[in-house]
Amino acid sequence: MKGIILAGGRGTRLHPLTLSVSKQLLPVHDKPMIYYPLSVLMLANIRDILIISTPHDLGAFQDLLGDGSRLGINLTYAPQTEPRGIAEALIIGADHIGADDVALILGDNIFHGPGFGEVLQHHVRDLSGCVLFGYRVPDPERYGVARADDRGQIVSLEEKPARPRSNMAVTGLYLYENDVVEIARKLRPSARGELEITDVNQVYVERRSAVLVDLGRGFAWLDTGTHNSLTDASHYMQLMEQRQGIRVACIEEVALNMGFIDAGACHRLGEKLGSSGYGQYVMRIAAQTPQLLTATP
Ligand code: TTP
Repeated sequence: MKGIILAGGRGTRLHPLTLSVSKQLLPVHDKPMIYYPLSVLMLANIRDILIISTPHDLGAFQDLLGDGSRLGINLTYAPQTEPRGIAEALIIGADHIGADDVALILGDNIFHGPGFGEVLQHHVRDLSGCVLFGYRVPDPERYGVARADDRGQIVSLEEKPARPRSNMAVTGLYLYENDVVEIARKLRPSARGELEITDVNQVYVERRSAVLVDLGRGFAWLDTGTHNSLTDASHYMQLMEQRQGIRVACIEEVALNMGFIDAGACHRLGEKLGSSGYGQYVMRIAAQTPQLLTATP
């Protein structure tokens, strides 16, 4: 399976923060926002990832992440000249997807919860049609809302409904079979002039091949679109670090745990980040792996 991170957009709700910097490069506590969706794809065992952003911001993402080889993954980049909708990512990424299935994730979505890697890997392996990830919210009228039968098959999808039929919001992570490229190519822009991802998902719902995975209680799906939600997300990550001693979405740690790099390589990545607490953490994680413990006299 191939991966796509869509990290463009205007970020108007975050102005003036995003007047000259991409939203997805802003810090969420100790790391740039894009580390969070990148780590989700890596946890799903996806190693071939396309990053799509504005022509203005693409170079900064390249400076940050390079070709991915230091993490044992392959990163490529493509521009979206205007924010013409989330579904356009599937057209821009058509060559990258090739004959494979694809996981698309929005660059401003943060997921954190127990066993997420295994859940993702299971659905990546067993994919047929599309898989969406639902999260119960108190204000479903602000989101795309899904209703599923007791087997998890989605029976209805509504975009920002005035009277929601469920409180299950559709999050910004989508798994699709290869035919999604053809579906995206046939879309027409909506009333707001965008290629809507809900229209793509609707095709699978009509075919009865759209599955909803309930992320469940105890899981965090964090918004970063406004000043307050961005600050809240930073506080959440700070709390995780201070109270539990873990850094969520540390891409070097994920690469090590997934076996993309070995402990020595991980340690060297930490050394390069030197005096920062993040760098110290990467070195500590590497030093604690059995591999490095046995190599150190
Ligand atoms: P939105 O939050 O809908 O839009 P935005 O990020 O531009 O923010 P604002 O509403 O404040 O103007 O986008 C969700 C995610 O999808 C975000 O990571 C940006 C990305 N996106 C694109 O990259 N291209 C697009 O055409 C659209 C619609 C979104």
